Amino acid sequence: MSVLVTGGAGFIGSNFVRSLLAEQPDSTVTVIDKLTYAGNKQNLDGLPEDRFTFVQGDICDAKLIDKLVSDTDIVVHFAAESHNDNSLREPWPFVETNIVGTYRILEAVRKHDKRLHHISTDEVFGDLELDDPTKFSDKTAYNPSSPYSATKAGSDHLVRAWVRSFGVKATISNCSNNYGPYQHIEKFIPRQITNILSDQKPKLYGSGQNVRDWIHVDDHNDAVLKIIESGKIGETYLIGANGEKGNKEVLETILELMDKPKDWFEVVNDRPGHDMRYAIDATKIERELGWRPKYTDIKSGLKQTIDWYTNHKDWWQPLKDAVEAKYLEKGQ
Ligand code: NAD
Ligand code: TYD
Repeated sequence: MSVLVTGGAGFIGSNFVRSLLAEQPDSTVTVIDKLTYAGNKQNLDGLPEDRFTFVQGDICDAKLIDKLVSDTDIVVHFAAESHNDNSLREPWPFVETNIVGTYRILEAVRKHDKRLHHISTDEVFGDLELDDPTKFSDKTAYNPSSPYSATKAGSDHLVRAWVRSFGVKATISNCSNNYGPYQHIEKFIPRQITNILSDQKPKLYGSGQNVRDWIHVDDHNDAVLKIIESGKIGETYLIGANGEKGNKEVLETILELMDKPKDWFEVVNDRPGHDMRYAIDATKIERELGWRPKYTDIKSGLKQTIDWYTNHKDWWQPLKDAVEAKYLEKGQ
């Protein structure tokens, strides 16, 4: 099987490429990645040269995408602008990559009759109240809050329309918040770990009561592999590992694991329109595809992640000052 992975130099995509090449010895992978600020070719170092090709390019480039898609069996589409805070500063790259880029991929898979798996987020559903007993399922109505989640919602709608109108062979997954190695340090968990490693206080938005449903990136990618193997065309699978935790609680766990006092953090400006809570009901993928998360204890997953950032300072240190300067402009 030859697999075209878009956005494979980013956090989840690079972990996916490593898992796929390890678990499916007959597979070959081509990554197309624009190498935006979030992509890093080093994330793909050490992969077998005879089974792996890297192409630097933009998913909005119709000609390039047409060629790459024609040469592959399946496209796994991770490429996106992925950070909410950036989408509040400058929405256009989100519209361009997440919507126009997904349109380009869809037109190419339609023309060449190739299978597509589209990676999306639970943020398309908007947010839940803290005390709401329901969780997101594939029946939940879309209600996105930010430019990021609205453009991801738009991309999901395009995929469904291409399945229904043109018979494109696509599946969709909506996953909750990922953590693990190679995550860009603009995101919550690696920002706090690298702050502590830089002797700066962690930064908590607002009350810290907001809840995210954390999943280890390897569990997300195992689920994606299952969908590629046996997912039903046209279906949407929600991926989550029952990892609901308040931001303050996650931060306190990181502080404890890194031998810092529980209150060694600063409260900074809240995110405008900040979603309160996400929670995934993953029973469909568990029941229909037999997927189960392996990282059920977030504390041990966080410990592994802290160890990775501690041992990979050369990977993140060159980015740190610029990331923090951008946050400082907004009092975050
Ligand atoms: P990331 O920002 O770490 O990586 C995105 C990658 O896409 C980067 O390598 C970047 O260079 C590349 N890219 C961006 N624009 C491109 C373009 N126009 N053409 C080609 N490449 C381009 O993101 P991530 O956290 O790894 O997220 C990957 C996917 O998973 C996204 O679609 C995101 O919406 C989805 N997702 C993320 C999470 C999460 O918690 N991070 C949760 C659920 C779903
Ligand atoms: P983030 O990692 O940006 O993911 P998302 O916005 O997709 O959920 O943020 C996770 C949560 O952490 C979110 O509620 C915002 C909050 N947050 C902070 O409290 N401090 C920070 O420095 C960052 C980046 C996020």
